Amino acid sequence: MTRVAIIGAGPCGTAQLRAFASAQAKGADIPEIVCFEKQSDWGGLWNYTWRTGLDENGEPVHGSMYRYLWSNGPKECLEFADYTFEEHFGRPIASYPPRAVLADYIKGRVEKADVRKWCKFNHSAQNVVYDEASKQFTVTVRDTLNNVSSSEIFDYVVVATGHFSTPNLPHFEGFDTFAGRILHAHDFRDAMEFKGKDLLLIGTSYSAEDIGSQCYKYGAKSITVSHRTAPMGFHWPDNWQEVPLLTRVDGNTAHFKDGSSKDVDAIILCTGYLHHFPFMENALRLKTTNRMWTPDLYQGVAWEANPRVFYLGMQDQFYTFNMFDAQAWLTRDMIMGRVATPNQAEMRQHSIQWLEREATLETDEDMIYFQGDYVQELIDQTDYPSFDVDGVNQTFITWEHHKHDDIMGFRNNAYKSLMTGNMQPKHHTPWLDAMDDSMESYLAER
Ligand SMILES: Cc1cc2nc3c(=O)[nH]c(=O)nc-3n(C[C@H](O)[C@H](O)[C@H](O)COP(=O)(O)OP(=O)(O)OC[C@H]3O[C@@H](n4cnc5c(N)ncnc54)[C@H](O)[C@@H]3O)c2cc1C
Ligand SMILES: NC(=O)c1ccc[n+]([C@@H]2O[C@H](COP(=O)([O-])OP(=O)(O)OC[C@H]3O[C@@H](n4cnc5c(N)ncnc54)[C@H](OP(=O)(O)O)[C@@H]3O)[C@@H](O)[C@H]2O)c1
Repeated sequence: MTRVAIIGAGPCGTAQLRAFASAQAKGADIPEIVCFEKQSDWGGLWNYTWRTGLDENGEPVHGSMYRYLWSNGPKECLEFADYTFEEHFGRPIASYPPRAVLADYIKGRVEKADVRKWCKFNHSAQNVVYDEASKQFTVTVRDTLNNVSSSEIFDYVVVATGHFSTPNLPHFEGFDTFAGRILHAHDFRDAMEFKGKDLLLIGTSYSAEDIGSQCYKYGAKSITVSHRTAPMGFHWPDNWQEVPLLTRVDGNTAHFKDGSSKDVDAIILCTGYLHHFPFMENALRLKTTNRMWTPDLYQGVAWEANPRVFYLGMQDQFYTFNMFDAQAWLTRDMIMGRVATPNQAEMRQHSIQWLEREATLETDEDMIYFQGDYVQELIDQTDYPSFDVDGVNQTFITWEHHKHDDIMGFRNNAYKSLMTGNMQPKHHTPWLDAMDDSMESYLAER
């Protein structure tokens, strides 16, 4: 029997489980599936952990999420087409859920699909090697609870280990002797730690925007954001400033490229993450930066040099959960022979067209349309329920406008579900005043 290894049970790995379960429910003979997950439960980044550094079993801590994290985009843009928020929660709910609410939603779908039986939790993939003669993979995993390694043979490998967990850590002069705390966003856990402090953030993407906003909300004294390329340019509160790139620190004083300086208590490197797959042998290892089109992946998923290996969710992301689904459904159908795998030259040619379009992208809107077209191309090939991709694009664009209108208030807006057509309610409390991020508080009708 054909055997498929899925590595990781976050949103991508669970999408892959769900894709196979859905084919089985329609009567198809599916391969044997084994999903190795190094955490003790599924949910990926959406599981909060207080831990940083190494976990209780000596594995690098996967979690990069922090307390009080709320979705940074409307949930209407990430909604599963085959399992709506209204199905899960029994009614429409507000558009920017906190982490616990989204974790509950992701898990609810796979609990319902009854695929836990395919998962081996507390199993960390250590090594994946391919044998050309047998056309099979040996996957070596460590059972982290018992500290026992073992190997199994598979015909296909789906890598779903995410790419926002291994921090990119640039060095700046004077860091060795900085008089305060330096950490990466990956290790940020609780904004209360920075109450009353002067904070320097480096980077201008979602982590900088959101960690800065959290720290403002929970009482930081001042927030200074240092950019390498360009400032974010939102209408920030009065105690924010955007400055050019840090050149050095001297004691507690941070110096910037324009000659200005600022005394700070802590520095948070919001400098992004590395795609890191140490368990994949060299010939199978994806090497890429965080970009809209990942090189070497046919249709954004199949490893062109050996399309028995698939990578899910490796792109920079506007679209998330429903894009992961679209990828998982296509991966399933390539594995099951329902969608043909072209020869290598044809795969390359297909990727080149997307790479050429990627090179023309300038604005966020361009990137949203690009990713929307990609998602549409994927769902057109499988039985994943079709959905209004253009409606999702338009919701993303409205979201962008809301952020530019009011960066501390954009989460107070509500949008229409593109899956059910129902307008969702506004949250009962403005985000800046909503200190309790529990699911109970979010779902309470006040
Ligand atoms: C701080 C932060 C906030 C975010 N907020 C949002 C948001 O609001 N909305 C949104 O849509 N997206 C958000 N994202 C994007 C996020 O990438 C996706 O939502 C989603 O979690 C990606 O799913 P994934 O399955 O690819 O990866 P992950 O969620 O990272 O899951 C990967 C899984 O693989 C497991 N794993 C890793 N290595 C191994 C190994 N060697 N062996 C076995 N298992 C392994 C991990 O334990 C984990 O369970 C956020 C990301 C970050 C970092
Ligand atoms: N609440 C939420 O939902 C939430 C919160 C946080 C993060 N996230 C998610 O997390 C993911 C990752 O976001 P991210 O912001 O961590 O990473 P990212 O989007 O990859 O951005 C990395 C940032 O680091 C900067 N950078 C990299 N190297 C640098 C260097 N040597 N010096 C100075 N700056 C440097 C980049 O600057 P340049 O522009 O100059 O390259 C860029 O601004 C996203 O998908 C996001 O949606 C979500």
